[in-house]
Amino acid sequence: MKIIHVTASKEYDVKIGSGLLSTLGAELAKVSKIGTAAIISDSNVWPLYGEAAVAALESAGYKTVHYIFPAGEAHKSGANYLSILNFLAINHITRSDSIVALGGGVVGDISGFVAATFLRGIAYIQVPTTVLAAVDSSVGGKTAIDLQAGKNLAGAFYQPRLVLCDTDLLSSLPEDIFRDGCSEIIKYSILYDASLFSTLMRDGLDFDRESVIARCVELKRDVVAQDEFDTGQRQKLNLGHTIGHAVEANSNFTLSHGKAVAIGMAIVAGAAAKYGICSCDTQAKILSILAKFELPSATKHTAQELYESALSDKKRLGGSVTLVVPQEIGKCILRPTPIEALKDFIEAGL
Ligand code: GLY
Repeated sequence: MKIIHVTASKEYDVKIGSGLLSTLGAELAKVSKIGTAAIISDSNVWPLYGEAAVAALESAGYKTVHYIFPAGEAHKSGANYLSILNFLAINHITRSDSIVALGGGVVGDISGFVAATFLRGIAYIQVPTTVLAAVDSSVGGKTAIDLQAGKNLAGAFYQPRLVLCDTDLLSSLPEDIFRDGCSEIIKYSILYDASLFSTLMRDGLDFDRESVIARCVELKRDVVAQDEFDTGQRQKLNLGHTIGHAVEANSNFTLSHGKAVAIGMAIVAGAAAKYGICSCDTQAKILSILAKFELPSATKHTAQELYESALSDKKRLGGSVTLVVPQEIGKCILRPTPIEALKDFIEAGL
């Protein structure tokens, strides 16, 4: 097992290893009172791991209740958020109780926002069951729901008490979902770690789960420690996301987040090479790692279509967006880009 200690406004551990789900109750008891554990999960994850989670919690003395919603981004909604709050109220959950988010990014994001706001904040822990959640969304306290106007437009920074990542859970993922999460791992390597990039190029999908996830969490931990509230360096974690979200929105969310981010990273790499910010060799390396993981790097949408979607992205700040642009593998810069220049940037990268 690897333990990464996060120091943000609250300190907590991210524990990563095989077999950790069976320790859920004992681990929760180290960071919260014994009371009721309200498990929030979705229709994909609950049938696989619900029983084991309940057994682990009850054997440590917790009473459990569970709220399960249909899997999918469509349920990271205001309606589902209110429904979960009502569920907690009806079940008399108090500030002495805890929320357990058992699932991927959607479950983690909405559960975290529920935890941040129910009774003005109750304890929660994250039990990520996808690669994406393990390396990114479960760590760092960003919680959110989507609004009709765009993704993640309502939320709070609210740190969990613990992140418990059982790497065994990732082996039951359909290969497509697993590969999707690898897009975020590739993102960390392009941003910060040329050696991780080489490991991924060498091992492809067979990379060592525990050490690679732990390395990504360490990288994220360092960013969150410097910039918990996303006013500076944390924005780098959006590599590929501004344009990726636009690709995702243009597909009417039929394209998964990880694939959309992969396309977003390919587009910024293409533009960076055209603008002389990175070399063509760096662009080629980025395209080849995406190909190695069988992630897409092209879109049928036009620069105009992507530009229009990107305008509603939440990172828009006044008249400009901050793009994350690679200079070399392991090094990226923040590039404030006037809105008027964004379309040309996208065009250059297509
Ligand atoms: N997922 C990006 C962040 O946590 O800042």
